[in-house]
Amino acid sequence: MTTISVSTNGSRRPSPLRPNSSFAFENPIAPVDDAAVHPILHSGRVAVITGAASGIGAAAAVEFAKLGMKVALADVNEDQLRAAGEEVAKVSGDPSNVLVVPTDVSKIEDVVRFRDRVYEAWGEVAVLMNNAGISSKGTSWDGLDAWHKVFDVNLFGVLNVQQTFVQSMIYQENAAAIINTGSKQGITNPPGNAAYNASKAAVKSLTESLAHELREHPAGNNTTAHLFIPGWTWTGLTGAGKGGEKPAGAWTAQETVLYMIDKFREGKFYILVPDNETRKELDQLRIMWTAGDVAEGRPALSRWHKDYKALFEEYIRDGLAQLD
Ligand SMILES: NC(=O)c1ccc[n+]([C@@H]2O[C@H](COP(=O)([O-])OP(=O)(O)OC[C@H]3O[C@@H](n4cnc5c(N)ncnc54)[C@H](O)[C@@H]3O)[C@@H](O)[C@H]2O)c1
Repeated sequence: MTTISVSTNGSRRPSPLRPNSSFAFENPIAPVDDAAVHPILHSGRVAVITGAASGIGAAAAVEFAKLGMKVALADVNEDQLRAAGEEVAKVSGDPSNVLVVPTDVSKIEDVVRFRDRVYEAWGEVAVLMNNAGISSKGTSWDGLDAWHKVFDVNLFGVLNVQQTFVQSMIYQENAAAIINTGSKQGITNPPGNAAYNASKAAVKSLTESLAHELREHPAGNNTTAHLFIPGWTWTGLTGAGKGGEKPAGAWTAQETVLYMIDKFREGKFYILVPDNETRKELDQLRIMWTAGDVAEGRPALSRWHKDYKALFEEYIRDGLAQLD
């Protein structure tokens, strides 16, 4: 197990934070290797995905269908949703294994209708992928309407789905899981997308609470929660809809989803996904630096603060050098 310790110099104390931990707590739903049959991602079981009309959600729908799962797709974009549903039906080979339900996740009545359709059709949910999301640019002191819109989808959309589905899922006989899509921006808070970052930070907090509550609930320990943290993925959200080629640094939605499935099978709660530009160790160092702002009393967002630029770069250089 590799650990990073940062050299002491006049400008900085060594960081007590390490990128890797040797502790591993058992997940109530045992991780499985590739050859084993996963109890949740299993042929005949049900995958429910929001934001399934495009990007990561659509790719997940295809990959779950390839595993022989029944797939319910929800999205606010009806035309694109139907097209995605047709694609999934082709992969599945059986159209009756695909349910397409136009749904605005920010509207609780839509979400309740979606849940009812899924349970009427198939009577259970194995994996609930809470993935619909929108982005916005702007500052913290303007664009109140945009802030409401982003929170209505990215936080309250996730919460609507969670509150509507989880009550039924925890009383099912078979193991089940909720995968909420967060973002690295909800952890490291880069400047420029204040509302998006805050909404994704809330999703992180919400999903951590959910994981704990499920663990403690007498009926909940057959159901797990997971925070899926995609890397840079070439989708509508990141400009793919406008045409053009995928940037070399980004992953395709399929690559991101296959990585997610792999880590989910290992039983991970935090599914932190790399891309072609950012390897896992760099993400780990950035996350620890962010936590260090609080623990070590640096200014907010010191990573982007001119007085800390050199120190941050040195921290990353030292950290990566020790891993190589
Ligand atoms: N692409 C990336 O690099 C990246 C990185 C980190 C996190 N994410 C997250 O991944 C998730 C999927 O995004 P994507 O990158 O595939 O983008 P995308 O735009 O291709 O997909 C998002 C989907 O959500 C749908 N949606 C938006 N508002 C909705 C609503 N109110 N109700 C239902 N559906 C709604 C959209 O119509 C769209 O189909 C989002 O939560 C996003 O924040 C993406």
